[in-house]
Parts: sequence; C-alpha cells; structure tokens
Amino acid sequence: MKLTGYLTLLTAAACSLVSAVTIPGADTPLFYLIATGPDTAGVNFLPVRLNGGSNYFSILTGTGPIAKFYFKQGQLVAVDPVSGPSGQAYRALVNTQQSGTGTCATFGQFGTVFGSSSNKCASYSTFGLQSNSENSQLGAHIVFNWTGGFYVCGAQKEVYYKVNPADGPAGCTQIELYTLPVIQ
Ligand SMILES: *[C@@H]1O[C@H](CO)[C@@H](O)[C@H](O)[C@H]1NC(C)=O
Repeated sequence: MKLTGYLTLLTAAACSLVSAVTIPGADTPLFYLIATGPDTAGVNFLPVRLNGGSNYFSILTGTGPIAKFYFKQGQLVAVDPVSGPSGQAYRALVNTQQSGTGTCATFGQFGTVFGSSSNKCASYSTFGLQSNSENSQLGAHIVFNWTGGFYVCGAQKEVYYKVNPADGPAGCTQIELYTLPVIQ
C-alpha cells in the first residue's frame, strides 16, 4: 500500500474515535465556553469554570471544575460535575440585582445555580448562541437577550453580563465566550 493509502486509513480511524457528547433530551451537544478578548484583558483561551468566584459564580481563573454547558428546552444549563450527566443540571443565570422598586439592574454576574436562585431579579433567559458576525465559520459565542455583552472584571476574572458598557463595576473588559464542543 502506498503512503497515501495508510494516511487515509489513519485519518478514517482517527475520525471514528471522536464524537460530540449529547445528553438525552438536550437541544445541543455539550460545549465548553472559552474566552477571547484583547491581549490586555489576559483572558485568551481561559475556560469558564462552573464556580469559584464570589457567591460561587463563574470565573476564568482558579481550579474549579470547567463547566460543560448545553441547551435544554431553550435554557442554558451545565452538567453537575459531581453526579454527572444523569444528575440534575445547574441553571445558568445573570444575577441581576434589584435596582429600585420593582426594577432590576441591567447587569449582573454570570454563573449557575443548583435549583433556583433566591434572587427575584435573577435572569435565566434568554441565552442563545450566535455565529461570529464577520464569518460564521469561525464558530459561535454565547449571547444574552441578543443585546449587550459579556465582560471580565476583577483579579479573579469574574464574568459579568452588561446591557451597556457603563453599567455595573468599572475596570471591566468586554470579552466573547466561544463554544468548544466536548468530545469523547
Ligand atoms: C432580558 O430580557 C427580558 C425580557 O425582555 C427582561 O425581562 C430582562 O430584564 C432582560 N435581562 C437583562 C439582564 O437585561
């Protein structure tokens, strides 16, 4: 057999070894969220960790479990790292706080909760995936309400969502969180 023949066989074997992981009943396969931002933000290639930030919210630093997300019935959820895919999933949220009588702020920390948050202003929807706006072949990033953006704030690199850049804590840098499929 010629070398190219072996290469074809090898490629075929390699391709059959990997496949996306989909939990029964999920809308999407599992994916990680990986940060990209200006070099000055120091976030490039850092994965979103399920917890480790203040009040257990998601951060890009530390040693907490790297979150495995998926969509289920339109909601963004994450696998419980202890009980795994068969256990109850964590729900993703933007932890918007009350900003006045009957009004909720237009920013909040991004994270996940087990069950539901005691914060009445917490926003669970709507998370979505949007292809890179300049070239859809470059992949998809997470969006919220199809407006605003994600930011990294503070030394622990906490992830925030803000409708307007001036909302919430100062000294944050806008980032994008791109999906990277979980394969097996
Ligand atoms: C997202 O959109 C919903 C519905 O319009 C709204 O009630 C909610 O306040 C928005 N969340 C944020 C954090 O802006």
